[in-house]
Amino acid sequence: MDIKTVMVVGAGQMGSGIAQVCAAAGYKVYLNDLADELVEKGFKIIEQNLNRQVTKGRMTEIEKENVMENLYSSTDVIDANNVDIIIEAATENMGIKKEIFSKLDEIAPQHAILASNTSSLPITEIAAATNRPERVIGMHFMNPVPVMRLVEIIRGLATDDEVYEVVEAMAKALGKVPVEVNDFPGFVSNRVLMPMINEAIFTLYEGVATKEAIDEVMKLGMNHPMGPLTLADVIGLDTCLYIMETLHDGFGDDKYRPCPLLRKYVKAGRLGKKTGRGIYEYG
Ligand code: CAA
Repeated sequence: MDIKTVMVVGAGQMGSGIAQVCAAAGYKVYLNDLADELVEKGFKIIEQNLNRQVTKGRMTEIEKENVMENLYSSTDVIDANNVDIIIEAATENMGIKKEIFSKLDEIAPQHAILASNTSSLPITEIAAATNRPERVIGMHFMNPVPVMRLVEIIRGLATDDEVYEVVEAMAKALGKVPVEVNDFPGFVSNRVLMPMINEAIFTLYEGVATKEAIDEVMKLGMNHPMGPLTLADVIGLDTCLYIMETLHDGFGDDKYRPCPLLRKYVKAGRLGKKTGRGIYEYG
């Protein structure tokens, strides 16, 4: 199966990043969201990223235009009726995802692959909302998508080997490194990352050290590019809490209990960089 046309559902930070790398690799990409303003916002993020490449001399203005020309704005999922793969990057909520997948299943051509960029929700359960569970798969990109090399590819219970192989080849064509993972809560990435972030928030909550000190320990001591508290603000504290809850529900083990301070910040609307305030404050 040859992938030529892609739809990305959700034009936020992740969806726009995925659309950008797909368009840069030469695929025709529909960037879809519920309203024009949301899609426009996604296009702006992409244009800013590409402008930075042009300024740095890594891309010419013509190359940038070529990437932009591969991108099509979509506010109607009916556009999925002639694509080869749909990558869903909408809100992390099982109800919403099931609704999207069931609708896409009705519209998309029979051969089309339905992929989800979910960071922790079970692919098998999302697949069960469709009549083609064998063509449903997880394609988990990392933030920021244009920079991070990993794509975690998650096999649902029914995922076809052929579908896995097509998605693996596509990830490589995007310049990414695919890693195969089975469907368990949090997969590998967030099962390992989130408890570390949660524990960093516990050390802050218990007064073990200041936020700056905790981040400094992990940056200088473990060579992490950013400290876990800074990273939590980048990912979004609401997303971190949601993933911890998914792990806690999925495994039922106390070691995944979200830190009360994380809950408190989310309840206060301190969601991280995107709201100007999370664990840190942003100018
Ligand atoms: N979008 C596009 N490009 C970006 C970017 C963004 N949001 N942020 C930074 N960049 C680019 C910069 O333009 C720069 O590009 P060049 O090298 O081409 O000049 C490059 O990234 C490095 O940026 P900086 O020099 O400004 O800063 P840095 O050295 O601190 O690197 C970083 C930034 C790559 C984000 C680095 O800090 C990092 O790797 N942080 C950790 C990121 C991480 O862990 N991501 C995974 C999060 S978990 C996840 O995504 C899964 C989930 O489900 C929650």
